[in-house]
Amino acid sequence: MKLELNKKELELFDGDLLVYFLRETGGNAVMCPCKVLRRNIKYAWKNGDFAGKKGETFLFYPAAASKDIKHNLAAGRVLAVGLGKTGEDVQADVLREQIRLAAGTAARQAAALKVKTLLAVLPENTGLSDADLAECISEGLLLGSYRFDRYKNKKKDDEPAVTIEAMALHAEGLDQDAVKQGLHRGERAAKAVCAARDMANEPGNVWTPKRFAEFGEKLAKEHGLECTIINKPEMRKLGMGGLIGVSQGSAQPPKLVVLRYQGSEDKKAPTLMLVGKGLTFDAGGISLKSPQGMEEMKYDMCGGAAVICAMQAIAEEKLKGINVVALIPASENLPSGTALKPGDIITHFGGITSEIVNTDGEGRLILADALAYGIATYKPDAVIDLATLTGAVIVGLGHHRSGLLATDDALATQINAAAERAGEPVWRLPLGPEYSKQIKSTVADIKNSGGKEAGTITAAAYLQEFVGGTPWAHLDIAGTAWGFTEKSYVPKGPSGIGVRTLLNLVRDWQVSKK
Ligand code: BES
Ligand code: MN
Ligand code: ZN
Repeated sequence: MKLELNKKELELFDGDLLVYFLRETGGNAVMCPCKVLRRNIKYAWKNGDFAGKKGETFLFYPAAASKDIKHNLAAGRVLAVGLGKTGEDVQADVLREQIRLAAGTAARQAAALKVKTLLAVLPENTGLSDADLAECISEGLLLGSYRFDRYKNKKKDDEPAVTIEAMALHAEGLDQDAVKQGLHRGERAAKAVCAARDMANEPGNVWTPKRFAEFGEKLAKEHGLECTIINKPEMRKLGMGGLIGVSQGSAQPPKLVVLRYQGSEDKKAPTLMLVGKGLTFDAGGISLKSPQGMEEMKYDMCGGAAVICAMQAIAEEKLKGINVVALIPASENLPSGTALKPGDIITHFGGITSEIVNTDGEGRLILADALAYGIATYKPDAVIDLATLTGAVIVGLGHHRSGLLATDDALATQINAAAERAGEPVWRLPLGPEYSKQIKSTVADIKNSGGKEAGTITAAAYLQEFVGGTPWAHLDIAGTAWGFTEKSYVPKGPSGIGVRTLLNLVRDWQVSKK
């Protein structure tokens, strides 16, 4: 979908939908630069229909107003969307979210109206910089118009059959260069998020570990990244007992996708390592899951999708001063005659042995190998992993926040800030020896389940065994990767969570360590 900056006069836009974002003022003086709309808004306000509050919309047809008042708009429809209260006294991250939500609402309305062309007028005096404003509007518009319907032959009547073909931003009175910059930032981020949503929406029989490998290779070719695929024979040689064990019940061979982005020639430049769980279907293995909702386990690769799509955006943006290495361990987890069994003992990369007490605790097994291998090979300055790791995080935090666990306070603070900025909030949970004790095994070094209590923390404690002294943070996105908090710019199904948090983090990377 095209999104560009509109340079023509607003009045000349003769497309389907002109969108205004209006702030709540607390009076009937809803701020609005268009005369015709202003008059209509006044009536809407009088009737209690529109006050610029969050989520409110107001649709009117300029042509219909021509009898009693001279209008000069060529647009087919005008949509006013409420922003809520804005201004300098509202915190920037809160404002950013308000803007994204309003733009998402506009995109949804546009889809419902089967609109083909849309022009969005950027509001003035929001309290955000021109670049930030354009970035958030772009994100909201593009993320809000996401759909996945490639497997539908006949479109249902209640579903819009028309897709928006062109969207543009109108930014009169604002710094055009800044707006353009923001627009492109938002566009790159949204494109990466939509790519992650697409991967997750693909069913397990289509999006297999092999597809992660192919996507990585394609990214490498397009953007000059370095891509290495570690296949089963090499995994064996390297002693990656986790990846081998989890995948041995499946006909799909496992892949460990490694992507490297060099943003700096400087030897002292920091290296950030990202790891994402790419479990393309989790049936639980021999510890089989119950059938209700098992189809959702095709989404168990959302951590891997977030990481690989963040790499796409990082490479497109050519971010400087930092090197990023991404690892996506990809596998299926199925029951079969060759599958891993409860009681089996595996040896991870690096030699740590693990007693499998529940084959459904597979995420930590494939992540452990990737973490240990990546740290030994690339010696990163910091490591972040993303995984749909535990059902327990949904019990603890619901679908509104991802769980954050970290061995490094500065890294946790940076991630928290990047996540807030993205509208993808996290909440930190503790680590500690008392939790690590829960995963001690009597027959091996550790075991892959610490029981019901503190399930999210003991899963992280398992990963912690493999990161040594490297600053590390883990995001448990089981509650947010799909079914995330209802938002106008997040559709039902996979949210693409984590992509924009990671991108923000790399954009503002500060070498707080050393
Ligand atoms: N992929 C699941 C976690 C999950 C559950 C994600 C529900 C989203 C929704 C993970 O592999 C899993 O099965 N975890 C187990 C761990 C347990 C066996 C130690 C869990 O959470 O029950
Ligand atoms: Mn599982
Ligand atoms: Zn899983």
